[in-house]
Formats: sequence, structure tokens, C-alpha cells
Amino acid sequence: MRLVLAGLGVVGRSLVELIAARREELVRYYGLALRIVAVGDRSGVVAGRHGLNPENVLDAKRRGRLKELGEAETRFSDMLEALDNVDADIFIDATPTNIKDGEPSYSMIRKATLRGMNIVTVNKGPLALAFPAIAELAERRGVMLRFSGTVGGGMPVLEFAKECARADEITQIEGILNGTTNYILTQMEDTGLSFAEALKQAQDKGYAERDPSLDVKGLDTACKLVILANAVLKLKTTLADVNITGIEEVTQEEVREAKREGKVIKLIGRASDELTVKPERIPANDTLNVKEAMNAVRFTTRYSGRHTITGRGAGGYETATAILRDVIAVKQRVISEV
Ligand code: HSE
Repeated sequence: MRLVLAGLGVVGRSLVELIAARREELVRYYGLALRIVAVGDRSGVVAGRHGLNPENVLDAKRRGRLKELGEAETRFSDMLEALDNVDADIFIDATPTNIKDGEPSYSMIRKATLRGMNIVTVNKGPLALAFPAIAELAERRGVMLRFSGTVGGGMPVLEFAKECARADEITQIEGILNGTTNYILTQMEDTGLSFAEALKQAQDKGYAERDPSLDVKGLDTACKLVILANAVLKLKTTLADVNITGIEEVTQEEVREAKREGKVIKLIGRASDELTVKPERIPANDTLNVKEAMNAVRFTTRYSGRHTITGRGAGGYETATAILRDVIAVKQRVISEV
């Protein structure tokens, strides 16, 4: 399958590494031979019809010279121009989240969809701002829209939800959806680290957004909640509908006080009829009490009770794995339609 990849940050680079490292297994287990026919970052896009060598792409990126990649047949100044000219099966969006207008991701996804490419995105911006419109366009053009890595990093939250709802109905979603803030709160609780020091560590570990205020202000959690609400609860909702409080005001004293009560402070997102994000004190033995950058999501169902999934919610390889999972799903649908 021919891939166009936008974004070579922590997630994009991890994906290129995984494509190289898992090349043989992907062919053996899924009949999936992946060719990166175009890849771009903010400096521009390089393309090659027969597929660019992943190791060479990583090397050029490391040297800050992606545009000078020797084997490239064509070069474009930006991804929109590349999408007009390159033929591919899947457009992968691993660009950073922008929640003001979702750009440039929104325009890239739109263009790729109109050109008949299936979409695999880990960019939360466009989906949080315009999920119903993007899903409708994909459906009209008959392309797949997959976004597993937008929620829960490497853990298959959306797939788990689909299974929970297969013979039942999910009525409420609640959980810890942001690795960075969970890491900060855990460090404040366990090691007494200050907010600023813990945030710096989360950034160094590659958990935080390029703009970390998205994490600490609760906006990243809100984006994920909107995506879950649309995909799982079938609500046509956007970021503007979420009531959001971040963790900036949480003090070391409050963390200690909660501990004395046998509780922990967590940034919880909750979606049922309403969508809210706010720091809450939950019992230390609650299934949502996960540590470090872990995420935990609990689905309440009408008939079968509550189901919780926990796992690593952020990180390059974790999120890149979710992208590969989506790419495999696209391949399997293409096969089933032949
Ligand atoms: N900044 C996000 C987090 C990355 O910390 O959870 C994963 O979406």
C-alpha cells in the first residue's frame, strides 16, 4: 500500500522506524507491503513513486535535510501541493494538534479524502472541531477514516468500545485521557516534584503536545472526549460543547490532603448527556487510578455493567502502533471488498 505521511515529529519518526523494523512481519502476517511514496514536515515534502527508503528518510530528517533526500523523484513546498500530485492509498496525518482552526491538518485531510485516499490520523484538532463534517465527507467519498491513535495512545480504546457496544449500548464514558497531566499529578503525589519540574520531565519523555498548555489546561482531554462522544456515543458534538477545567490550579497541598483522605487527584473526562473535564478526587482503589503516563477509560453499558481499559496513553512508539493498526484495518477492508 502506498502511504503519504505528514509529520516527522516523535510519532511520525516512530512510525517510519516501525515500518522499517516490522517490514517482513507485515508482509508475512497481513500481506501488507508498505511504501512511503511521500513524506513531509514543515520544511517541505519529498516523494518517490516506488517508495522512499525509511532509513534514509530518518537519516535525512536527523540531519535537518529532508528536502535534500537524494532518492526523491519529486519535491513539493507543502503537503497540499503534494496531495494534488501524488497517488496513494492512505494519507497518514501525524502533524501536531491545533485546536484553533485545525489547520493545516483539516485542509490536508479534506484534500486527501477528495482524492480518494483513506485517512489515518492521530491529529486531534480537526476531529475535535469538526468530527461530524469530516466523517460525513469520508462516507460520501467511500474512504475509510481511522483515528485510533487520537485516543489512548497505543491502547485500542475505540476498538474496545466497539466490542463493548456490539450487543449492548454504552451510556457513559469516563476516564483519564491525558498522559502528561497524569504523569504530573503522579509525580506530585509520589515524589513531591513541583508542577513545573514534572511537566519538564513529561516533555522530555515525548508525552506532551508541542504546545503543552493543551495538556495542562485540559484541552487535550476535551478533544479526546469529543472524539469518543462522536465515535462511541454517536453524539454530534464538538470542542465548544465541553466544560473544561485544567490542572494548573492543583497545588501540592491539595494532593497531600487527598492522600490523607485515601484519595488521589486525577484529571477526569466524562461524557454522557454532557461533556466535562475537571480534576477530581477519586478513591485510591478506583480502577481509574493509574500511574505515570497511563490512561484508563471506563465504559458504562446498559446491560453488561462497566468495562475498563488501561494502558500507555502517550508516546511515540505507542501512538505509531495505533497508526499501524489502522493501516492494517484499511488493508483488511480493501481485501474484503475485492
Ligand atoms: N499529549 C498527549 C498526552 C499525547 O499527554 O496524552 C497523547 O495524545
